[in-house]
Amino acid sequence: MARASPGAAGDLPPARRVAALREAIREADHAYYALDAPEVDDSVYDGWMRELAALEADHPDLASPDSPTQRIGGSASDAFEPVVHRAPMLSLANAFTDDEVEAFDRRVREALGVVAVRYACEPKFDGLAVSLVYEDGRFAVGATRGDGTTGENVTANLRTIRAIPLELPAGAPARLDVRGEVLMLRRDFERLNRTQAERGEKTFVNPRNAAAGGLRQLDPAVTASRRLTFRAYGTADASDPHAQSAARAGSAAGGPDAHRSGRHSEVLERLRELGFPVARERETVEGVAGLLGYYRRLGERRATLPFDIDGVVYKVDDLEQQRALGYVSRAPRFAIAHKFPAEEATTTVEGIDVQVGRTGAITPVARLAPVFVGGVTVTNATLHNEDEVRRKDVRIGDTVVVRRAGDVIPEVVRVQPERRPAGAREFVMPSHCPECRSAIERPEGEAIARCTGGLVCPAQRKASLLHFAGRRAMDIEGLGEKLVDQLVDVGRVRTPADLYTLDAAMLSDLDRMADRSAANLVDAITASKSTTLERFVYALGIRQVGEATARELARHFGSLERLMAADAAALTAVPDVGPVVASSIASFFDEPHNRAVVAKLIEAGVRWPEHSGAAVAAGPLAGLTLVVTGTLPTLSRDEAKALIESAGGKAAGSVSKKTAYVVAGEEAGGKLARARELGVPVIDEDGLKSLVAGKEMR
Ligand code: IVH
Repeated sequence: MARASPGAAGDLPPARRVAALREAIREADHAYYALDAPEVDDSVYDGWMRELAALEADHPDLASPDSPTQRIGGSASDAFEPVVHRAPMLSLANAFTDDEVEAFDRRVREALGVVAVRYACEPKFDGLAVSLVYEDGRFAVGATRGDGTTGENVTANLRTIRAIPLELPAGAPARLDVRGEVLMLRRDFERLNRTQAERGEKTFVNPRNAAAGGLRQLDPAVTASRRLTFRAYGTADASDPHAQSAARAGSAAGGPDAHRSGRHSEVLERLRELGFPVARERETVEGVAGLLGYYRRLGERRATLPFDIDGVVYKVDDLEQQRALGYVSRAPRFAIAHKFPAEEATTTVEGIDVQVGRTGAITPVARLAPVFVGGVTVTNATLHNEDEVRRKDVRIGDTVVVRRAGDVIPEVVRVQPERRPAGAREFVMPSHCPECRSAIERPEGEAIARCTGGLVCPAQRKASLLHFAGRRAMDIEGLGEKLVDQLVDVGRVRTPADLYTLDAAMLSDLDRMADRSAANLVDAITASKSTTLERFVYALGIRQVGEATARELARHFGSLERLMAADAAALTAVPDVGPVVASSIASFFDEPHNRAVVAKLIEAGVRWPEHSGAAVAAGPLAGLTLVVTGTLPTLSRDEAKALIESAGGKAAGSVSKKTAYVVAGEEAGGKLARARELGVPVIDEDGLKSLVAGKEMR
């Protein structure tokens, strides 16, 4: 405990005292977060922070962005700037069975021509991948994974995470790109959900969602309050000279051989020495028996770990061997994730209710005796639709197996018929909506029954308001389920346009709404007025129009007026819009009620940059159609398409005379042949990237 003490305030000159306090705080953070061995009491630590903040306030010349006081969060930003990763952030292939792990080891051995391989094993953290770039020992830029090629600049938020060093000790490489996972510890997750519930705000499904939400806050102070943490699992890429310099610079960790060969386990060791938390659960093992042994051991400890993991990761330890193995598509050949099976548990069905969705879809939901599975207590599980209830033959009173994996809604896997009690009752689809008493209809040939009440139905109204406020729609932070319920129930809000008439005084009259939350919500509602056309179109909740279609519509029509004026024929000219989607859009805008809501929203001040689509329309690939075929070295098919679209181009599925370029990777077949036949230029992934970067291609 004494080691970190900066001593008493005494009469050191302010600059020295500030330096001593910063050093002590940095060491305490390191001990707490990286070593998991707290060295000072919270009260002492808080005292240092207060003293440091006071000194910095009195001596502005001593302030520094690297000071621990800045971790409480700098100024809020409007949006996250894109960051192009220096080396792409890749994904991992998955193995689910022992056989698949054996096959992985066999492929590795055969490719390397060796009889046994040493592997580094780590937990597969269930958080969010980030890249942390250090320049001259200082944390310079931090970004999310994004599409693997381009992520979002979340530096200000990452700076608030105490487990992330802001400065590296002397001897660190001049440039270092650390890759790792931002996590929320289970105990912090539970604390957060308790506070959210107390404030009547939305609770999070799992720590990963909470961490993701925390990292993408526009206000870093909110990120700071979420108490995220971090684990490093590597550097930019094994074949990157910086990755080696991290291993090499650690002579103590590596020994003379590290210089020549270099090992992933040494990179981690070196990162730990530089102050990054790395998995304490890491091990190196030999051969497939070693891998499976690690998997079993960690699986047994899974429930007692302080954070969620969804499997383990195996990496060939020798960096030279990693380089020799290389990459396929967007994943390394030298590593694989061995996933844990989705957790299952047994419980009883206490009832089968129906839920009414945004579009009136009626979903039968099993009400369960509470059961802990996949890290949360489950009390409901979806039964999808009536046919599914029959197929699985789920009855009220049955004992059932439920499953929950990742973000997926818990579901009933199967019934245990041998445990069915005598009085088990079958589910009957109600004839009327439980919310608004309108008739429920199930059209011929469709699996989904629907409430016919439309926006008369409060359940549909609530669901469409929540959709409207959603993060990917108008992004009104703080407008959660409980609030929407109250606002609709007291009759204050009927349509999304009514949201823009709310004021803080009215809101603070609601249950569990503090003045401050009311003011924050009004701010969030006001901020949401400035949006993009694609978000707005998505927010309207037109049936069949998801985010991707909304984007295409915004891009194609460029203005709401043109979109609203389009008939079904004009709509089918939009990529991916078929007759069903076109008719759904056209009937939405034909409905006078919907037109009135749109008009009111615009009257309330909802706006977006003119010609949202125009910036893209002017991109380097504007007006060009490209076709991607085969396996590209680093980009997946979807990533390549996204890249093309981000530059204003169109990604099509088949080659014609109108195709500007065919982007071909390994094992390209018929489309490549067709391109050659038609004389369409063929380029590779690098060629695509040059085009997107605006470079001319011959
Ligand atoms: S290595 C070259 N190690 O899993 C491969 N990834 O599917 C780079 N992840 O987005 C990843 N724990 O965020 C690696 N110990 C670990 C990991 C890990 C979690 C995530 C990572 C990535 C995803 C890959």
